[in-house]
Amino acid sequence: MLVVCPNPTIDRQVILADLAPGTVLRARENKAYPAGKSVSAARGCRANGASPQVHVLLPEGGSSWYLDTLRAEGMNVTDHLYPGEVRETILVYEDSGRVTVINGTGAEIAADRWYEFVRMVVAQVTPGGWVICSGSFPPGVGESELADFVGRVARAGGKLALDTGPNWLATGIAAGPALISPNLAEAEAVLAGDPGAVEPTDVGADALERAEAAAVALRARGVEHVTVTAGAAGVAWASPDGTGRLPGIEVEVKNPIGAGDAFLGGLVAWLEVGWDFPAAVRWGMATACSAISQWSPGAASAEDAARYHARLHQS
Ligand SMILES: Nc1ncnc2c1ncn2[C@@H]1O[C@H](COP(=O)(O)OP(=O)(O)OP(=O)(O)O)[C@@H](O)[C@H]1O
Ligand SMILES: [Mg+2]
Repeated sequence: MLVVCPNPTIDRQVILADLAPGTVLRARENKAYPAGKSVSAARGCRANGASPQVHVLLPEGGSSWYLDTLRAEGMNVTDHLYPGEVRETILVYEDSGRVTVINGTGAEIAADRWYEFVRMVVAQVTPGGWVICSGSFPPGVGESELADFVGRVARAGGKLALDTGPNWLATGIAAGPALISPNLAEAEAVLAGDPGAVEPTDVGADALERAEAAAVALRARGVEHVTVTAGAAGVAWASPDGTGRLPGIEVEVKNPIGAGDAFLGGLVAWLEVGWDFPAAVRWGMATACSAISQWSPGAASAEDAARYHARLHQS
């Protein structure tokens, strides 16, 4: 399995009682992790026994700490360096559970360097094997580059699990990924043809019903496997194994950011070894539950995931 991380970032977490904009504050705790949504998905894969090769397209400045820390976790990382500084994301966690995220902008990449990265990644694709790509793309990569990347993976026989923002997703869908996993707000924005209109995920009583309808509608656009996650409400899917819903379970949340990526990593880890879709979805959710109960984005322990998985079977 391959994981492609085109726009990595360093997550700088700030934990405090209350965020008061415009004042000087002192954090109760600070943490830093090498991150980016695909890296979170790779952590989710690894919690399920998979050992993906993780291709990171990384600006050189600040790359040593990023790569050393990721490799110290035991991740198999291939780095593709280009000029610039690694971007940073500031995440503020308040005691109320509110999280504020300020995403940094990636370093601009030249077109020839981007295409070289894509060629190197696609050369590693195994026919029938899964490729995960989650998150955004750096400046310099536009819709035609995304469509080209998705098409090349498909032509090499790879099954691409693509989880990118609604602005990119419509283009990505048209180019032929095997799986997409938007959250409910992203899915509804794409279906409405209004990708700028993403509202926070609504976990109202009808969230799973809406998620299932969205999964079916997105699958009708030609993607074989679709999951639509709906935060605490759970997940719905549409796949060749049918459609379905899995309600969420209660989790003591520390870091909700990266839940969708941990879900995707867990899901694909089990699809890769041939499990049917509903069974793989259950492990995806168990992985997400484990990941959000600790701080490292997407990381889960196998024991913890198994504990949540057992609770899902009871629900
Ligand atoms: N507060 C929560 N309580 C319980 N389970 C949750 C919660 N938040 C997320 N999950 C689990 O994680 C899965 C994915 O979450 P979500 O829909 O929030 O993904 P997302 O919006 O893509 O997240 P991110 O963009 O931060 O990765 C859900 O389907 C659910 O199983
Ligand atoms: Mg997501």
